[in-house]
Order: sequence, then C-alpha cells, then structure tokens
Amino acid sequence: MDIQTIMVVGAGQMGAGIAQVHAQSGYYVYLHDVKETQVEKGLERVKKNLTRQTEKGRLTNEEKSEILSRIVPSTELENASKADLAVEAIVENMDVKKKVFKELDECAPPHAILATNTSSLPITEIAAETSRPSQVIGMHFMNPVPVMKLVEIIRGLETSDKVFDAVKQTAESLHKTPVEVNDFPGFVSNRILMPMINEAIYTVYEGVSSPEDIDQVMKLGMNHPMGPLTLADFIGLDTCLYIMETLHDGFGDDKYRPCPLLRKYVKAGWIGKKVGRGFYNYN
Ligand code: CAA
Ligand code: NAD
Repeated sequence: MDIQTIMVVGAGQMGAGIAQVHAQSGYYVYLHDVKETQVEKGLERVKKNLTRQTEKGRLTNEEKSEILSRIVPSTELENASKADLAVEAIVENMDVKKKVFKELDECAPPHAILATNTSSLPITEIAAETSRPSQVIGMHFMNPVPVMKLVEIIRGLETSDKVFDAVKQTAESLHKTPVEVNDFPGFVSNRILMPMINEAIYTVYEGVSSPEDIDQVMKLGMNHPMGPLTLADFIGLDTCLYIMETLHDGFGDDKYRPCPLLRKYVKAGWIGKKVGRGFYNYN
C-alpha cells in the first residue's frame, strides 16, 4: 500500500506534532481543523519546533522551508479525497469522533486508511461508524510527538493485516517504534499511566502533599522526567478526565474513578498548560 499523502484532522498539540513528523519524513500533509485560527496555531507550533532545530544546526533553513511547503492548511474535510491515510487527533470524545469518522468515510478515497490517535476509546466502535471497518486502526502517538519514540498500534475487530502492516511501516518511516496492543480501554499506555496521574491528583485532594512536592517525589525518587501533575497539565486535564472516564466505564471498576478534584478543575476551565492554568499557573 503506497502512502504519500496524509490528512491530519485536528491541529492541536498532537495534530501539529503528527503533521510535523510526517512532513519531515517526506509525506505531503493536509493539516485540518474546524477553524482557520486553529490551523494557523498548529502551523505556528510546527514552525517554532523546526526553527529550534535549525538553531541547533540539525536542519538547514532550506530543509525547513521544504518541510513547511509539504504542509497544506485545510478547513474543508473534502480535502481528505486526496489522502491515502487520515490520522484523526481531535477531542477525546466518542460522539465527536464518530461524527468525524462518518464524514471522513464519505470524503476519503476507497483505498484510504482511517486512523485515530485516540488515547483510550475503542477502535472497533469508531470503525463501526464507517463502511470500511477493515481500514480503520488506532495509531497512538505520544506527546510531544517529535520527541517520543513510541506509537501504539491498535487493531479494531475487523482491521486487515494489510492495513496493519501499512500503518506499522508508516510509523517506522517516521523513525518511531510501533508496538501492537489489543483494543482494550486505555490500551497499554494509558491503562498504566492515567491511574498513576489520577492517584497523584487524589494525593493533592486528600491533602497528603502539594503538587510541587508530589512532582518532586516522582522526579527525584522514581526518575520520571516530569512529575505526574506537571505531566497531567502537559497532556491536558480535559483529556486526562476523558481517559479516566473511558477506563471507569470500560472496566466498571471503581479503582478507575476520576478524582473529584480533576472534575472540578475541568469544570472551572483549568485544563492545563494549553490554557495557562491547571495544577500550576503558566501565566
Ligand atoms: N515539542 C517538540 N520538542 C520538544 C518539546 C515539544 N513540546 N518539548 C521539548 N522538546 C525537545 C527539545 O527541543 C529538546 O530537544 P533536543 O534534545 O533535540 O535538543 C528535547 O525535547 C528535550 O527538551 P528539554 O531539554 O527542553 O526538556 P526536558 O529534557 O525536560 O524534556 C520532555 C522535555 C521530552 C517533554 C520530557 O520532560 C519528557 O519526556 N516528559 C514526559 C513526556 C511524557 O511522558 N509523554 C507521554 C505523555 S502521555 C501520552 O502522550 C499519551 C496519551 O494518550 C495522553
Ligand atoms: P487539543 O485540544 O490540543 O486539540 C484538539 C484539536 O481538535 C483542536 O485544535 C480542535 O479545534 C480540533 N477539533 C475539535 N473538533 C474537531 C472537528 N470536528 N474537526 C476538526 N478538528 C476538530 O487536543 P490534543 O491534546 O491534541 O488531543 C487530541 C487527541 O489526541 C485526543 O484524542 C487525545 O486523547 C489524543 N492524545 C493526546 C495526547 C496528549 O498528551 N495531549 C497524547 C496522545 C493522544
């Protein structure tokens, strides 16, 4: 299967990173979002990252321009008609994702693969919204995408071997390491990571310690590059809550119950670094 052109749906922190790594590996990319301002923000993020690489002498200005010229901004989902692979990276909400997959299924050419960067939602359920469930797959990048080596690849019930192999090869062409996991809530990464983050939030909620000290314990004591509350802010507390809800609903076990403090912060709009306020203040 020859993949040359991709469409990234959602130009947020993940979508921008996914667009960047594909363009850097020679793919043509449509970077799509609902609003032009969001696409521009995503492109700015890519430009900033590439500029940092030129400053470090890893990329020439000419290479940077070539990479950027391969990214085409899009606010029309019909542009998916030119894509061999679509990677969806919008909000972690099943209803919204289903709607987008239905539309993508109508716009994308029959051979195209429809992938989702979902952190936790069932691939099989998303695939069932389309007329091509054998061509729907999970392609789960980690944040920040240009830095993190892992891509979890998750087959839905009907995903074909041909589609799995094509997505695995694409991930390898981005110099990432693909790991296949089964379609279970949170897959492997977030089934393990997110309960730890949720527990760190309970530790604040119960007054055991401050966010700063909890992060310090995990950084200095366990050698984590970021403490769990800094990481939660970095991921986005809205995304963390959605993931915990998926684990709670999916397994039906109260050990996955989202901490009330997490719900409170999301309700307050304190959803982390992307808005300047979460467990820490970034303004
Ligand atoms: N985008 C692109 N590149 C970035 C970046 C960003 N947002 N942040 C840092 N970098 C790059 C820097 O340019 C630097 O590159 P070089 O080494 O090539 O010069 C490198 O990363 C290291 O950066 P810094 O020295 O500034 O900072 P650091 O050493 O503290 O590393 C970090 C930053 C890589 C983000 C590190 O703190 C880290 O690994 N944190 C944990 C990240 C993590 O756990 N990610 C997974 C989140 S969970 C997930 O993604 C799944 C999900 O579904 C929620
Ligand atoms: P984000 O909030 O930064 O970006 C989401 C983007 O999607 C926004 O720009 C928004 O305008 C856009 N969007 C929303 N609805 C849309 C629609 N119908 N059509 C087109 N665009 C739409 O979110 P993010 O952190 O980039 O997360 C995106 C996805 O990636 C989620 O499924 C999340 O679970 C997953 N993910 C996130 C992380 C992380 O650390 N943040 C890591 C891995 C996977």
